[in-house]
Amino acid sequence: MDKKKPLKRPRMDAPIGARSGPIANGPMHARPLVALLDGRDCSVEMPILKDVATVAFCDAQSTQEIHEKVLNEAVGALMWHTITLTKEDLEKFKALRIIVRIGSGVDNVDIKAAGEMGVAVCNVPGYGVEEVADTTLCLILNLYRRTYWLANMVREGKKFQGPEQVREAAAGCARIRGDTLGIVGLGRVGTAVALRAKAFGFNVIFYDPYLPDGIEKSLGLTRVYTLQDLLFQSDCVSLHCTLNEHNHHLINEYTIKQMRPGAFLVNTARGGLVDENALAAALKDGRIRAAALDVHENEPFNALSGMADSPNVICTPHAAWYSDASSTELREMAASEIRRAIVGRIPDSLRNCVNKEYFVSSNYGESINGSGSAYNYTGPIVPHSTTLEPLPAPGSVPTSLSSAHATPHSTLQEAANHMTPKPESSEVH
Ligand SMILES: NC(=O)c1ccc[n+]([C@@H]2O[C@H](COP(=O)([O-])OP(=O)(O)OC[C@H]3O[C@@H](n4cnc5c(N)ncnc54)[C@H](O)[C@@H]3O)[C@@H](O)[C@H]2O)c1
Repeated sequence: MDKKKPLKRPRMDAPIGARSGPIANGPMHARPLVALLDGRDCSVEMPILKDVATVAFCDAQSTQEIHEKVLNEAVGALMWHTITLTKEDLEKFKALRIIVRIGSGVDNVDIKAAGEMGVAVCNVPGYGVEEVADTTLCLILNLYRRTYWLANMVREGKKFQGPEQVREAAAGCARIRGDTLGIVGLGRVGTAVALRAKAFGFNVIFYDPYLPDGIEKSLGLTRVYTLQDLLFQSDCVSLHCTLNEHNHHLINEYTIKQMRPGAFLVNTARGGLVDENALAAALKDGRIRAAALDVHENEPFNALSGMADSPNVICTPHAAWYSDASSTELREMAASEIRRAIVGRIPDSLRNCVNKEYFVSSNYGESINGSGSAYNYTGPIVPHSTTLEPLPAPGSVPTSLSSAHATPHSTLQEAANHMTPKPESSEVH
């Protein structure tokens, strides 16, 4: 957990005016522009935002591919994890007030620079905790029980005629009960993994230097106070910390040597936590018996990359968070946060703003239209819920974005065109 930083004075070159000035709104004006930066499908977001914003998508992988109209006019941005926003990228946006990461990790946004520019960055922290925890257990169980490899042998036609063949094929299958699972980072996912792992008979220990004393007692876990202790005691290490400036390559050649010989490693947190070259070498020489990685140093994951060739590794494509339910919930929660920014105040009305501490005082507590009071929206505020009722048809149609603006790279288009199922008449332009 980062220490609270004092509010900073605005830099003279920071485009404060652009962030705090009023954004024209109301019947005589276009609705504020909200853009999905790195995706195309706005079908879940659109019903939540259509009466308070014009929603567009960019489908960009970098800010070079983002249409000028979005850079100049978008007050809100939704983003997955395939685009990165550095300070330089953020400076290209002239009217931006809120970025919502459709996900929990915010390691692909410079949240400090954004805060200093008066741009709130929010995430959606809780949507997939169960999915990520369940996937983590799935991976841990595969490492212990070798299910993935055994299933592949059957698929490849290997014959199992008796116990000898089973013994040979299943060599390395291990008993879980009594083994020690070491959890690095006991946040939402880490805790959910710990609770599940206890049911399988693991002795669960954790390392998280940012938590107050006593958590271990309430959860019935064993706490260690150094990473070295955790690595030394664990038969299986599972990473669940956020990636930050202090823990890049937390698992490296040096720390791998502190692990028990033949231990397992699981990473469903962030690829940057593991030095993949060091891990590949450790898998090759058996120092680490097997590893399961849902996240990778280079994403999107390429099956031809070095890690996939390593022995005894299971790689999945950063999919731990996904279920049909969590995906919908995630997108609804992200769009609802944008909506709160439009109808309320930034950052006070936001539920999951992660960079409040970097806000300059002149930007604090503003509505998105720059006035001291909230946007004059009179409809219902969408509850933080997975069962969103369709909103009443808006009085005015969201402003269309002319296709003449679109360039081949920057596929800025009205999100309404990509709605499924059939859009309501108010969304057809
Ligand atoms: N694979 C996926 O699909 C997927 C989905 C969601 C989240 N994630 C990732 O899972 C991780 C956990 O998510 P969460 O929602 O539980 O986060 P969280 O913020 O609730 O918990 C993270 C915990 O890590 C601790 N921590 C930070 N640095 C640490 C360090 N150096 N050593 C030990 N502990 C440290 C923090 O104190 C915190 O308790 C994050 O990295 C997140 O990005 C992955």
